[in-house]
Amino acid sequence: MELQNLKHAGLKKWIEEAAALMAPDSVVICDGSQAEYDRMIQITVDAGLATRLNPAKKPNSVLYRSDPSDVARVENRTFIASKSKDDAGPTNNWIDPAELKHTMTDLYRGSMKGRVMYVIPFSMGPIGSGIAKIGVQITDSPYVVANMHIMARVGTKVLDVLGTDGFYVPCYHSVGKPLAPGEKDAGKWPCAPIDKKYISHFPETREIWSYGSGYGGNALLGKKCLALRIASVLARDEGWLAEHMLILKITNPKGEVKYITGAFPSACGKTNLAMLIPTLPGWKVETVGDDIAWMKFGADGRLYAINPEAGFFGVAPGTNNESNYNAMQSCAKNSIFTNCGLTEDGDIWWEMIGHGAPGKTIIDWKGQTRPAPQTDKSPKGEEIAHPNARFTAPAKQCPCIAPEWEDPKGVPISAFLFGGRRPSTIPLVNQSLNWAHGVFMGSIVGSEVTAAVISDQVGQVRRDPFAMLPFCGYHMGDYFKHWLKLGASHDESKLPKIFFVNWFRKNDDGKFIWPGYGDNSRVLAWIFDRCDGKDNYVQTAIGNLPKPEAIARPDGVSEADLKAITSVDIEGWKKEIADVRKNHYPKFGDKLPAELYAELDAIEKRLNA
Ligand code: OXD
Ligand code: MN
Repeated sequence: MELQNLKHAGLKKWIEEAAALMAPDSVVICDGSQAEYDRMIQITVDAGLATRLNPAKKPNSVLYRSDPSDVARVENRTFIASKSKDDAGPTNNWIDPAELKHTMTDLYRGSMKGRVMYVIPFSMGPIGSGIAKIGVQITDSPYVVANMHIMARVGTKVLDVLGTDGFYVPCYHSVGKPLAPGEKDAGKWPCAPIDKKYISHFPETREIWSYGSGYGGNALLGKKCLALRIASVLARDEGWLAEHMLILKITNPKGEVKYITGAFPSACGKTNLAMLIPTLPGWKVETVGDDIAWMKFGADGRLYAINPEAGFFGVAPGTNNESNYNAMQSCAKNSIFTNCGLTEDGDIWWEMIGHGAPGKTIIDWKGQTRPAPQTDKSPKGEEIAHPNARFTAPAKQCPCIAPEWEDPKGVPISAFLFGGRRPSTIPLVNQSLNWAHGVFMGSIVGSEVTAAVISDQVGQVRRDPFAMLPFCGYHMGDYFKHWLKLGASHDESKLPKIFFVNWFRKNDDGKFIWPGYGDNSRVLAWIFDRCDGKDNYVQTAIGNLPKPEAIARPDGVSEADLKAITSVDIEGWKKEIADVRKNHYPKFGDKLPAELYAELDAIEKRLNA
């Protein structure tokens, strides 16, 4: 479609202003067609940025290698520019919005010279769903256009829903590398230096301005920027929830179905849980979403969730047929790979893929030719694939995608899970005593820092409330209040039950006690029955724990092991409570709701009783 034919006057004006500022050679309004996707891939192949994979190995798929300065979300360059610093809160970087817009306007001036400006109308959520929201992203990256085709619903059909005056979240994106006359990318991933990258959110005006990065959550603005940071603000204002949660469907042997969402910090196996293959006979798990859930109340008082995304942007290393067969199938074709290794036979490869690489050599994520690894492990720092290498795969290719995953009214949620990587103290599963206690559980989510994250904190617990620390678009203390208010203003019997799970308990030898993966279905089965009010629990000082025989014991887990991870570690919990009181809650100052201190006091009292 031509710009002059756009029916939405506000959108047309916004695009014209952006084009005047960024000075691209031309403007293209994306239609979302297959031909457009193919064109984006061809443009990047021609620019030396993409390699087509062997169609006999990975049909219709490509590999990109990014710049070493542009390999992950840049949290220290991510800003919540609310008018008042206090509204961004202590866990977000803040810059005054007027000052930030001034700085970024200078950066955007002429930033698309020599490039095409693509305008991507996109819907987060099934088009026309009452829970979905529309965004429009302007970008100079054909890689971003292709990824957005997979991750969101894009194109003309979105403009049709937007009509002449519909609401959309305007999203600016430029990689920040204009081309001089005659200059070409010539194989060099375009981006700006790290101190010029800005991933900015303006919560009051619902705007996103991203500059300088072409990678993942920094550049695919529907995902973390819109679906979490801006949506969390919309949800607060409109009375719903935008959460960093997977959505799964579970069916018991009688054919009864429940839907569960779960929030876990990075590196806790969220995508694996969303797609697990149960080891418990007769049970079935299907996927609705692997990363984000938007939930609104239905007329029946229940919370209904949609997955706002249309694809998976999954971490590749560690994914294999054992850890996640369904993810491997999802990205077996029609997928985009970024920063993976390239084998001699034109296939991708990554650490822990389950086998060594064929042939004599392999090309690593930096483009270097290296000896092909015999096993699927590499020494730290010498990886073939970057530890944050990704696959972008259409959700509809997932073998266990639930048939109702695109139902515009969403699926009714029975349980929320919170979890983290906790080698001690936190039991395998624990049901909150009530909603406020569940919000308390969400507020203290923490995970042991793994080597892949921040090396000087390895082994320490880093608190990541509701797994939303990098994704909440406003003050986290107000976010806790929002959760408490939702509970207090709805019929609690219809709200999801809240559980804390921990697959990562270790024994004295440092070995994992619980096998995880498909065996987590045993815990999901207990949760399923708990939602039906089954008498399978004991009430304790910290919440409802399973009765000893209520979790089907997997091979390799002794009765004593299971008892150890399903009972209360009183001394450990006293330390946990003391840590929350001293180091965690004070961060939120007087915005920390009194109800949460009351929960802390109550648990402490019960532990001392
Ligand atoms: C993600 C993340 O990429 O949470 O989903 O970092
Ligand atoms: Mn995520």
